[in-house]
Amino acid sequence: MKHNIILIGFMGAGKTSIGSAYAQAHGCPLLDTDQLIEEEAGMPISQIFSSKGESAFRAAETAVLHRLLADTDHAVISVGGGLPLREENRRLLSRLGTIVFLRVSRDTVLKRLKGDTTRPLLQGGDTCEKVDKLLAERNLIYEKAAHLLMDVDDRTLDQLVAELEKKVGEAR
Ligand code: S3P
Repeated sequence: MKHNIILIGFMGAGKTSIGSAYAQAHGCPLLDTDQLIEEEAGMPISQIFSSKGESAFRAAETAVLHRLLADTDHAVISVGGGLPLREENRRLLSRLGTIVFLRVSRDTVLKRLKGDTTRPLLQGGDTCEKVDKLLAERNLIYEKAAHLLMDVDDRTLDQLVAELEKKVGEAR
């Protein structure tokens, strides 16, 4: 297994913010699978979904994981909320490093993502219902895929980074 720290969890859990703060504090790179996919496609995720479809985006996620396995170590990797749902991706993630599930409540998600237009899965209709349904489908999958779990509600970024340091230190 490699030595990356991989942050998984629902949209709005703070994977990129926490990953970025941790990476900065430790002088290691932060890689974000959504960002890598957008850079390669030359378009935002919403446009990948609308022009190529979700399945093309999901294939790109798996391709990114293969690349990270080949060339990345000692980094913090933040992955899109839907990436751990594919079994193949979970297998790849487990070889890539220590997986940390950032667990978030529906109320925090709704507060943080109010008015967001960048996440195709939450557009149109009743956002609250969509979040509830997706959380119910996903939380157990995230939990099973992860080595470590952190609850992020009502915690400051500093507290979360400190907890991440402690948990990762103990797990290594
Ligand atoms: C998705 C989460 C998004 C992005 C895409 C699909 C999902 O990433 O990959 O919109 O299926 O949960 P974030 O978790 O970074 O928002």
